[in-house]
Amino acid sequence: MKRAKQAARPEARGRPAAHAARPLVRRVFAELADGGFHSGEALARSLGVSRSAVWKAVRALKALGAPLEAVRNRGYCLPGATPPLEAELIRKALPRAQGDRVSRIDVEWTLDSTNSRLLARANPPPGTSEVLLAEVQTSGRGRRGRQWLAPPGGSICLSFSWTFREVPRELGALGLVIGVCALRALRAHGVPRLELKWPNDLLMDGRKLGGVLIELRAESTGPACVVIGIGLNVALGASVLGAIAATGIAAADLASALHRPPDRNEIVAAVVGECLEGLAAFEREGLKPFIEHWRAADALAGRPVAVSGAQGTAQGLARGIDLHGALLLETREGVQRFISGDVSVRPAVTR
Ligand code: BTN
Repeated sequence: MKRAKQAARPEARGRPAAHAARPLVRRVFAELADGGFHSGEALARSLGVSRSAVWKAVRALKALGAPLEAVRNRGYCLPGATPPLEAELIRKALPRAQGDRVSRIDVEWTLDSTNSRLLARANPPPGTSEVLLAEVQTSGRGRRGRQWLAPPGGSICLSFSWTFREVPRELGALGLVIGVCALRALRAHGVPRLELKWPNDLLMDGRKLGGVLIELRAESTGPACVVIGIGLNVALGASVLGAIAATGIAAADLASALHRPPDRNEIVAAVVGECLEGLAAFEREGLKPFIEHWRAADALAGRPVAVSGAQGTAQGLARGIDLHGALLLETREGVQRFISGDVSVRPAVTR
């Protein structure tokens, strides 16, 4: 029987023209993504541009925070670099059932924020998702108005949208669900010693490996579209590590835990696949199927913490989450419940 001809996926259409039109800085980045040394002359030859154009692109790459090295007589090198993000490779690596739910995947070189861009688009039909990634975000956003820092090629800046048929009752706990899904995907890729820190942080060896930012567009009734942003540190390099440390956050990256450079396209596909499966389950059953997994990965359980939320700041011992995903804090006045907030771990009191 003759098979019907499949329509080309949006990301596969017009590919050669799109590649040629890419900015030079993106093409230089792609050449350096093998982690080896490339002389300015060799880069100019293979890209069909002048050496001074290469030099300007290299400077621009460095200004964006890429951990670029320049060594006399050897050329330029991006240590710890991984191959560029490519929509088609992500599509190929997506499990079939989840791939059918993804109507569009775009990888941009630079934009302000992948979350902001998806929020500006129309809602995807319920049960489907649009995925957007960028190598560089000029205004990457973290929770509570913080900036999200990520060097080109050294991180995953991922957003995807999802429309619920109606606003889920436990929407406030969606960040916990996404945390569990991202953790499962990373574990399946051999990432060790992962934990979750309430509400939305992914930790490795107790340091921040990634974060989740969920934004909602909804009326009081009817469909609700969420844009889920995930930032994952892949290979940060000293300057971005330093900049994050200056904000008081100890960061970790995948490159330091894995013995080979992680394949970002495969990791993106695994994370998106797990999350879409998780979103469908959350829509049917709420937080329930995820609670035990979340509790098993809880980085704070039993630890002395300070929680700052809308009700002010409180100190006590973290006692896990309740059935709705709220953080339970054992204080001198009794157990307090937090539905949002920021947590910092306090040094244990020694007698
Ligand atoms: C946090 O831990 O504060 C959440 C960080 C979320 C960062 C991601 S990167 C992709 C997406 N686009 C953004 O502007 N932010 C999220």
